[in-house]
Amino acid sequence: MAQFTLPKNSKVKQGKSFPLRGASTRKKTLRVYRWDPDAGENPRLDSYEIDPDQCGQMVLDALIHIKNEIDPTLTFRRSCREGICGSCAMNIDGVNTLACTRALSDIRQDINVYPLPHTPVVKDLVPDLKHFYAQYAHIKPWMQTDAPAPAQGERRQSRAEREQLDGLYECILCACCSTSCPSYWWNSERYLGPAALLQAYRWIIDSRDENTEARLDALQDPFSMYRCHTIMNCTNTCPKGLNPAKAIARIKQRLAAKAF
Ligand code: SF4
Ligand code: SF4
Ligand code: FES
Repeated sequence: MAQFTLPKNSKVKQGKSFPLRGASTRKKTLRVYRWDPDAGENPRLDSYEIDPDQCGQMVLDALIHIKNEIDPTLTFRRSCREGICGSCAMNIDGVNTLACTRALSDIRQDINVYPLPHTPVVKDLVPDLKHFYAQYAHIKPWMQTDAPAPAQGERRQSRAEREQLDGLYECILCACCSTSCPSYWWNSERYLGPAALLQAYRWIIDSRDENTEARLDALQDPFSMYRCHTIMNCTNTCPKGLNPAKAIARIKQRLAAKAF
């Protein structure tokens, strides 16, 4: 029989509250998902009141402030603080995005912060992305050539060929798109998802790569790519403004052209 509720040990419970010490007219409340695999307890939502004037202006600044000043047990990933490394990807206010580029002031109500959805949780806001990275490796994200490099050492591209990579090379592999894709939620074992497919297209369209046909053939099965149903969540959520759905549509066009 179908099960429509979460298992008992997965239900998110009300957690601890950390009220603001002192007064502030700009007080913000962050409700943060907490789960410790070693505690043997259900996940919970802890509430932290902060004064944005005491930290930076982004959600990541608030999380760092909470960890440094309020609750050192809070666990999350971050590195660059510039929207470049992709490690602070999480679900903020119902949207997958980067904590370091999401402004506190853009969210009027309490700020709900969860790990990226439909990924196993390592701890608190840290998702397990092993499978996501394995899918990235699966598309062979490196240049494949048989011909030796020219004597001068560089494989040249025309300006137009180079421009084909715009909108693709900027991907920071944050996983916001794949973890917002319903098709990926239900079929992530076999469907590569928008991030890996955008990367696949990045190499298919690269004029220097000599393995284009094999790259296309590798996607020619019912699951690897054709589980994309153009729902567009991926494109709507990408914090870098990229369009994985368009990249997937381009691959479909290439495969259709190949069939005739
Ligand atoms: S396409 Fe956008 S959302 Fe997807 S992994 Fe790349 S940067 Fe992140
Ligand atoms: S367009 Fe395709 S990849 Fe993007 S969210 Fe929809 S089904 Fe997923
Ligand atoms: S910390 Fe690097 S993208 Fe946010």
